[in-house]
Amino acid sequence: MSNNNSTSGLSHEKIETNNFLMIVLILVVLLFGGLVEIVPLFFQKSTTEPLKGVQPYTALQLAGRDVYTREGCYNCHSQMIRPFRAETLRYGHYSVAGESVYDHPFQWGSKRTGPDLARVGAKYSDEWHRTHLINPRDVVPESNMPAYPWLEKTLVDAAVMPAHMKGLRTVGVPYTDAQIAASVEDVKGKTELDAVIAYLQVLGLALK
Ligand code: HEC
Repeated sequence: MSNNNSTSGLSHEKIETNNFLMIVLILVVLLFGGLVEIVPLFFQKSTTEPLKGVQPYTALQLAGRDVYTREGCYNCHSQMIRPFRAETLRYGHYSVAGESVYDHPFQWGSKRTGPDLARVGAKYSDEWHRTHLINPRDVVPESNMPAYPWLEKTLVDAAVMPAHMKGLRTVGVPYTDAQIAASVEDVKGKTELDAVIAYLQVLGLALK
């Protein structure tokens, strides 16, 4: 027994008592795992190409998305339906990567104080959202979602839209020059509330 241990355990002992060798070997293992799991994702069509029907956000939807991130809506709402029965029964088809290729940054998240919003588009009327965002308790009495009354009193900052869309174009969102040029007009006079609603109403429609 003891003989066996001392001979067959010898090489193991060398590794386990040599910090440097241990670190190098751990890195090799991690690197291999990373290569196998992560690298293919950069080349698979299902993760790099938009799902059929997914369009880049319009200027107004994009402005709404900015309000969504600024207000921290993602702190309570995920946009990621997991492929489990309980989830798909409640929210609809599970989320797929091709739905968020134009999202920079994506809003998947995992924190759900409120429901997932990945497919909330067209679930309610614009009017419902309007009332709900100004004061959630007016439509859902037991709601603990904060009210956002200032959104209807603040105009979208139209001047930043062209630069914003150009920035997104450099990371692969196919905005045309015409769309960028029209963006200021598109959001002119719209409130932040209009913008957030436009954004919410398009979420998840491609797979609905
Ligand atoms: C503190 C947590 C919290 C924050 C922050 C929050 N919500 Fe909510 N939200 C909730 C809860 C809880 C509900 C469920 C009750 C209700 O409908 O009001 C909800 C419901 C919703 C719904 C209805 C979803 C459905 O399928 O019925 C929408 C849409 C929504 N929130 C949008 C937003 C937007 C947009 C923001 C940011 C401006 C936001 N929420 C910020 C907690 C939050």
